[in-house]
Amino acid sequence: MKAVAAELVSAELDALIPPHGGVLRELYLPAAEASALKRDSASLPQWTLNQRQLCDLELLLNGGFSPLQGFLGRADYDRVVKDMRLADGTLWPMPITLDVDEAFAAGLPDGAQISLNDVQGTPLAVLTVQDVYFPDRIAEARAVFGTTDRTHPGVAELLDRTGPVYLGGRVQGIQPPAHYDFSALRHSPRQLRQWFIQHGWERIVAFQTRNPMHRAHRELTLRAAEQVGAKLLIQPSVGRTKPGDVDHYTRVRCYRALLEHYPRDRATLSLLPLAMRMGGPREALWHAIIRKNYGASHFIVGRDHAGPGTGADGKPFYEPYAAQHLLAAHEEELGIRIVPFHAMVYAANRDAYLPQTEVTGQDDIRDISGTELRRRLHSGETIPEWFTFPEVADILRERHPANAQQGYTLFFTGLSGSGKSTLAQAVLSRLLETGSRPVTVLDGDEVRRHLSKGLGFSREDRDANITRIGYVASEVVRHGGIAICAPIAPYANARAQARQLVQAHGRFVEIHVSTPLQVCEARDRKGLYAAARAGKIKGFTGIDDPYEVPAAPELRLDTSELSVAQAAELVVEWLRGQALA
Ligand code: PPS
Repeated sequence: MKAVAAELVSAELDALIPPHGGVLRELYLPAAEASALKRDSASLPQWTLNQRQLCDLELLLNGGFSPLQGFLGRADYDRVVKDMRLADGTLWPMPITLDVDEAFAAGLPDGAQISLNDVQGTPLAVLTVQDVYFPDRIAEARAVFGTTDRTHPGVAELLDRTGPVYLGGRVQGIQPPAHYDFSALRHSPRQLRQWFIQHGWERIVAFQTRNPMHRAHRELTLRAAEQVGAKLLIQPSVGRTKPGDVDHYTRVRCYRALLEHYPRDRATLSLLPLAMRMGGPREALWHAIIRKNYGASHFIVGRDHAGPGTGADGKPFYEPYAAQHLLAAHEEELGIRIVPFHAMVYAANRDAYLPQTEVTGQDDIRDISGTELRRRLHSGETIPEWFTFPEVADILRERHPANAQQGYTLFFTGLSGSGKSTLAQAVLSRLLETGSRPVTVLDGDEVRRHLSKGLGFSREDRDANITRIGYVASEVVRHGGIAICAPIAPYANARAQARQLVQAHGRFVEIHVSTPLQVCEARDRKGLYAAARAGKIKGFTGIDDPYEVPAAPELRLDTSELSVAQAAELVVEWLRGQALA
C-alpha cells in the first residue's frame, strides 16, 4: 500500500468511523513552528525516550491515541487506572505515562518544557510539564493488569523497569520517529484513512497480531471479513511485543508472503508501532480504540486477546474470552464493532479450518503449538502445508535455522594451567576439520592483550573481562558463528551473565576444565604459581583468590585424567549429540 499524498476534504473522511472522542488529535506542529521548536529544544532539559515511551509518543503524535494530547496528568491517570476513563469520562483503558527518575524530575521548574529525544539525541517533541507525580505502581499493576505477579511482562516492566515519577502534560510534535524498515507499510491514521477513502473502503475489519500468521489466521480473518461484509486490515503490532516473540522483521516478511494468499483487493497490511503491555481485556479495549482512530469500523477479538499466558501459579492471567466480554460491554460507547472469534482449528477429515465451536465428534483435529513449531524448525523437520504456507515456513526457517546451522559458544572455564587454552585449540582444529562454520577464539591471555587491555585481576575487573567476552561471543553467535572462549572466569555470577548474553541468540555450552589445583600448580607452565606462592603476585586464582566451581556445567573435563585429544573428542561427541556439530 502506498501512502496517499493528496489531502482529502474532511467530508470525504467523514464517510469513515469518527476517531475516538470525535477528532483526530494530530500533535505535530506546522513545519515552520516545528523548526523553531527544534532550535529551542536544544536548551531544554533532555529526556531520552526508552522503546515503550518512543512507541507511545509516535502514536500520541500521529493521532493513534486520540483523544489524548499528551502524557497523562494525575487526574486522568487516577481515573484511567480506577475505571478506564479519562477525567472527562471518555473511555480510555491504558495509562499512557512518561516515567522518569527522581533526579531528572527534581531539576524541573514548574511548567517546565522538556525535549523528548530518540536514542540518537534527535528531538521529536517537546513536553510542557503540567503535573509531576509519584504513582502507586503496585496499585496500578493490580488495577490495570489484575495482578502483581512479575511473570506478567507488563507487571515486571511497571514494577522493575519504570521510573518512580510520572510527568504529565501536552506534547508538541517536531518530527516523527525515524523508521528505515518497511517504510512503505507504515501509515499514520490520516494516511490510512485517506487510503481507505481512495479505494472506496468504508467497512473495514482490523486484525491485531504479534505472531507470525499461518493458515488458521488467514481462515479466521477471511471468515470475519465475510461475516460482516468488510475489507480486511491486517495491522500487526511491531513496536514492542512480548519478550521472546519472533522479531518484527521476520514477522513482516511472513505477513507479506501471506498477503499474497488473500483474494485481491480484499485485504491490506499496515504496521502499528505499538508497545504492547500484554494487558488482556483492558489492552483489547485499547487496541479497539486505536483501530477506530485508524479508520477501522470493526475489530476482531479472538481467544485470549493480548494475554501473556500463565502466571507463577500456573493459572492463566485472564479468562480466554474476558476480552470479548469487556469489549462487548462497551461496544455501543466505542462505536467500533467487535467481531468476536473462537480459535480456528484444522479438521484433517474435512481438510478445512473451522471454529472450535463447530467441531463434531467425528472430526480429526490437528494442531501445531508454538513450542512444537519451534521444535520442528530447530530439528529441521517439515512443517505441514495445512499448517502454514511454504513461503512462510521458509521465512521462519531462515530465522530459526536447524541446530546444525545455529551459532553457539563453547565457554571453557578453569584454573590457570588447567588446560583450557590447549583444549580450546584442539577443539577448534576438530571443528575446522569437519565443518565450514566461522569460529572465533577468545582465549584468556589473548583477550587481555586486546579486548580487555588495561583490566587487572580485582573481582570488578575480572567480571568486566567476562562480560566483554560474553558480549563478543553473543555477537558471534548472533551471526551464526561459533565462539570458543577460554578465560579463568572464576565467578559464577559473571559466567551466568555471559550465558544470558549468548542465550539471547543461541546455545551456551559451559565446559568446566576441572584439573585439580595441585596438577595445575605442578605444571606451572608460566611460573605464575611459584610467583604467587612467593607472594610476588597477589590475588592469584586458586592461591589467594577464589574460584567458584561451576554447579551445573554442560560438561566437566579433567585434563589430568584425559589426554588433550581425548578431551577434545568428548567435546565434539557431545556437540554431535546435541546436533550442533
Ligand atoms: S579472569 O579471572 O577470567 O578474568 O582471568 P583471565 O583473563 O582468564 O586470566 C588470563 C591470564 O592471566 C594470568 N594471570 C592471572 N590469573 C589469575 N589470577 C591472577 N592474579 C593473574 N595474574 C595474571 C594467567 O596466566 C591467566 O591465564 P591462564 O591461561 O588461565 O593461565
